[in-house]
Amino acid sequence: MAKPKTVYACTECGGQAPKWQGQCPACGAWNTLVETAPTLPAARFENVAGTRSSSVTPLASVTPRASSRTPTGLDEFDRVLGGGLVAGGVILLGGDPGIGKSTLLLQAGAALGALHRTLYVTGEESTEQVALRAQRLGLVDAPVELLAEVQLEAIVAAIDATTPEVVVVDSIQTIYTETLTSAPGSVAQVRECAAQLTRLAKRRGVAVIFVGHVTKEGAIAGPRVLEHIVDTVLYFEGDAHSSFRLVRAIKNRFGAANELGVFAMTERGLRGVANPSALFLAQHAEAVAGSAIVATLEGSRPLLVEVQALVDPVQGGMPKRLAVGLDAQRLALLLAVLHRHGGVDTGGFDVFVNAVGGVRILEPAADLAVMLAVCSSLRNKALPRKALIFGEVGLAGEVRPVQRGQERIREAVKLGFDTFLIPNANKPKQKLENTTIIGIDRVDEAIEWLRE
Ligand code: TYD
Ligand code: MG
Repeated sequence: MAKPKTVYACTECGGQAPKWQGQCPACGAWNTLVETAPTLPAARFENVAGTRSSSVTPLASVTPRASSRTPTGLDEFDRVLGGGLVAGGVILLGGDPGIGKSTLLLQAGAALGALHRTLYVTGEESTEQVALRAQRLGLVDAPVELLAEVQLEAIVAAIDATTPEVVVVDSIQTIYTETLTSAPGSVAQVRECAAQLTRLAKRRGVAVIFVGHVTKEGAIAGPRVLEHIVDTVLYFEGDAHSSFRLVRAIKNRFGAANELGVFAMTERGLRGVANPSALFLAQHAEAVAGSAIVATLEGSRPLLVEVQALVDPVQGGMPKRLAVGLDAQRLALLLAVLHRHGGVDTGGFDVFVNAVGGVRILEPAADLAVMLAVCSSLRNKALPRKALIFGEVGLAGEVRPVQRGQERIREAVKLGFDTFLIPNANKPKQKLENTTIIGIDRVDEAIEWLRE
């Protein structure tokens, strides 16, 4: 059989060439040509949602269809999904290898399978390996159907034949289509296979979950190219050495983005942690220098996290700045503000900061805590043990309020915190009993507080 013809399209300008070449003949960019399937005349006018272009309609005349949710049986997973799976919804679950993607989806598939026909396509492992994992999870009798297949056309045929309601594809990088000659895992293959499966999902009303590996170097086509095709993008986070795993919604067309699900990896799979606020607090018997506790608001729940800093004289060479779980650029900025507006010079010191437990803090509410942890380490002076700090720091040395400050304070009070260093505007209106609340407007006030 003759190979179907493919073309090479430029990722920059969309120009096409019949053969691969180093430079795009249209825009002159280098190394931008990737193999793509020539779109068939019929499919060209079909959008990803599977509908042909239709007539112009006034918005007011469209009746919104409330999509019903299918709970997965794992509460924390449902929380990030915004209540459960949606028929025709396509989800991408990304994360480092070995973090627990297959485990989570096998558990969810087992729970879903009881009521909804579930197909688990495994491209990485044999059915025996999946069965072995199921055994470990105590799910040997789970009503899940398995398919060990990597060829797209065969997978589509299986879906057509068995009409499942939920399909898991583990992983999208292993799937390839006959219509392209490039290797499985290449950008062209990943994109084409995902697009075809997405159209199928929309057409048949099947919920599809893709597993995608993120590679550090990005050498293999990462799942990032898929983010705009799918409805929901979830990322697994967490320190491989700790048992806690976070699933974060980066994008969600059917629910709130930036919602967080918290799990613990146990001997028998992932277990949801319903009350995670105190999870990331290190247990120090006494107050230690270089440690500050911040209340971050990830999704709908406040999470108390210990931020640690180590400030040490430079051992020759350039001062090092290293941030784990926090933004390194933001750290550099905070050190500059600290110097300029707080009068604290870290120029001759290496500065390392770390958010404990493998959490990633994305919001600027942690600024003030990072700053105080740095000062605390530099001066070798511990902050009070039950002190909570939050606030965004601006370039002019001001401390700005954060959203939903009262919720953060309430959660910390519940966990026994009694001292609060927070932006003035976040100070509660009513006085809280047995607590000291220090509201500040400027960075130097915080430095002053530490000195006392
Ligand atoms: P896995 O789901 O295979 O990761 P991924 O699909 O993201 O590559 O999970 C891998 C890790 O989880 C593995 O190192 C073993 C651990 N694990 C447990 O600790 N308990 C369990 O019950 C299972 C199934 C796995
Ligand atoms: Mg896996």
